[in-house]
Amino acid sequence: MKLLLVYGTGEGQTEKICRFMAEHLAGRGHQTRLVNAAEPGPASDPRDFDFVVIAASLHAGRYQSALVDYVKAHHAVIDARPNSFVSPSRLLRPVMIGRTSRG
Ligand SMILES: Cc1cc2nc3c(=O)[nH]c(=O)nc-3n(C[C@H](O)[C@H](O)[C@H](O)COP(=O)(O)O)c2cc1C
Repeated sequence: MKLLLVYGTGEGQTEKICRFMAEHLAGRGHQTRLVNAAEPGPASDPRDFDFVVIAASLHAGRYQSALVDYVKAHHAVIDARPNSFVSPSRLLRPVMIGRTSRG
């Protein structure tokens, strides 16, 4: 299977986690491509992959803007194939998808 892992990272933890996942999946015979959303290129088109992993960490309640832009640009293609979302955080409380009832 061809897997694309696109990540946003602040201090590098999400990159380390994605690198570990990519190496583990490659070890199981899958083709993996690891892409920093801040440095996308032609090789990060999700149409070329069977499975897409999106990963982003929370900083002050927000995900990395480059990652959000990538997902907004490609959400229909990502949504049309198996995918997963990984979010390293301390106390998950994102505002990207709207405020909670407690504000
Ligand atoms: C400046 C800063 C702000 C953070 N803000 C949040 C936050 O709002 N919510 C949360 O759950 N975690 C927050 N965290 C925790 C990070 O999401 C967590 O440490 C994560 O592993 C960082 O991954 P990264 O190095 O890939 O950015 C924050 C961490 C830092 C350093």
